[in-house]
Amino acid sequence: MNDQTVKKTILSGIQPSGALTLGSYLGAIKNWAALADEYNCYYMMADMHAITVRQNPAELRKRTIEQLAAYIAAGLDPEKNTIFIQSHVSAHAELSWVLSCYTMFGELSRMTQFKDKSAKNADNINAGLFTYPSLMAADILLYQADLVPVGGDQKQHVELTRDIAVRFNGVYGDVFKIPEPYIPKVGARIMSLTSPENKMSKSDKDPGGCIYIMQPPEEIMRSFKRAVTDSETQVRYDVANKPGVSNLMQIYAVATGKSFDEIEKEFEGKGYGDFKLTVGEAVVELLRPIREEANRLLADKAYLESVYKDGAARAARTAYRTLNKVYKKLGFVAR
Ligand code: TRP
Repeated sequence: MNDQTVKKTILSGIQPSGALTLGSYLGAIKNWAALADEYNCYYMMADMHAITVRQNPAELRKRTIEQLAAYIAAGLDPEKNTIFIQSHVSAHAELSWVLSCYTMFGELSRMTQFKDKSAKNADNINAGLFTYPSLMAADILLYQADLVPVGGDQKQHVELTRDIAVRFNGVYGDVFKIPEPYIPKVGARIMSLTSPENKMSKSDKDPGGCIYIMQPPEEIMRSFKRAVTDSETQVRYDVANKPGVSNLMQIYAVATGKSFDEIEKEFEGKGYGDFKLTVGEAVVELLRPIREEANRLLADKAYLESVYKDGAARAARTAYRTLNKVYKKLGFVAR
């Protein structure tokens, strides 16, 4: 038996619609790196998803490459993982069309992210923003993924993917593997430093709320010094009443491996000022080697190009196998 039959398959992606955040590193990429030996892993730069919101072309191109460099610098080994750019494997666009014919208007209308994003982009509620989950379903189903590591906000899209796959299989037989969301237990949700009720996001209106993997240390420290806490003085984990402090504890815990108990003891009798500085310094040290390695890789364009070309070639082999099967089932004449 080869790897593909023994190992389960994982697929995930991040949109290069903004620089990579500390939230995507701690909540996603850091965990992905540990999965490479056990699973057959595919990770993409979801550039086709990114254009559902207007992007500056030069910046999109730059961020896509930066994201690739950061993936590798954060520990995703391109020999062990298939890392590729979504638009390089045209099967994504092709299957997405097919699946949009098996996705219901009502289902898409219920997607929370569509409602949020159309409220935020009221002047550009385009059809792609609406059918985005069909594209995401294509991403997942093309690779017959068993598990899809996502943050809680994407769970609904993975559930819709399952419904689409079940519906399609119901008509045509076993074409698609039914995937499951895979939500890591720790560090899955890093919140904004300035509005800790909301997820840390590159689309945050307040720039201080979000930390970026490639950000210089002085800026990181400035954001941590300004992080929102509460009117008490005690470092204690209590998400409901102390969302800001709990988020900082969560970040510190993942950055250092310390438990919440240990952290509470460490800061007993100390003020929030000390606490925020210590968390900031831990994050600076956590990100330093990644930033340095990503910058080194970014200077080696030929290497990065070889990684994404090889990744696309490998991804395409699997993707077209599924797409051909789908076309045949649908009754399309073989090309
Ligand atoms: N929609 C995801 C997000 O915004 C990114 C994404 C695109 C994705 N395709 C995917 C995630 C497939 C998992 C699987 O975060």
